[in-house]
Amino acid sequence: MIITIDGPASAGKGTLASTLADIYKLAYFDTGMVYRAVGLDLRLKGQDINNETLAESSAKSLTFAKMMELSKNKEFRSSEGGVAASVVSAFPKVRAALLKMQQDFAKNPTFANGTPAQGAIYDGRDTGTVVCPNADIKFFITASSEVRAQRRFKELQEKGMDTPYEKVLADIIARDERDSKRSTAPLKPADDAIIIDTSDLGIEEVVAKAREIIDNH
Ligand code: DC
Repeated sequence: MIITIDGPASAGKGTLASTLADIYKLAYFDTGMVYRAVGLDLRLKGQDINNETLAESSAKSLTFAKMMELSKNKEFRSSEGGVAASVVSAFPKVRAALLKMQQDFAKNPTFANGTPAQGAIYDGRDTGTVVCPNADIKFFITASSEVRAQRRFKELQEKGMDTPYEKVLADIIARDERDSKRSTAPLKPADDAIIIDTSDLGIEEVVAKAREIIDNH
């Protein structure tokens, strides 16, 4: 069983995906990690994230193990890390270099401790359209930019990061624009995706809606 969950930044994909993975005993692949890893790799090497050739070379040398190692760096999940990921993800050559690694996971899904799983939940921007076009169930999770900025702002405050709300909102709008306007694999729902708008829903309600759809499948 392969389930994909796509949507814009801070729509609630990650929480939904990890909750469903726990409930249905499925492996979880947060595909934003591959782009965050390339962005951070370049930044740690002091290289320009806008340089497609350097970004492609970093993407080609990325392994799952290296990605997990980079994910321990506190910059990995920062707002700057998200912006760098979004910039490198717009390069078609970077996306091409990272596609096989993402698709291979569906052939051999494993839990974080390495044990095999019966299937996987993917979360990202193009997992239902490009990475796993034959997924069993596809969700597209969205919410207004203001609601997503509020959620992100709260999350950053809880982590002790002092970014003003206006900057968080501006970053979200800029990231949406870049993610949905890029030429390769732009952010958009697959034709057969089930769209859930979480603007007025709590996480329990979103999980309940998704469970109903999965259980009926
Ligand atoms: O989900 P995230 O915030 O970790 O993603 C970071 C960036 O990576 C996002 O702005 C766009 C890119 N991304 C992508 O292009 N395709 C994916 N499947 C996942 C993420």
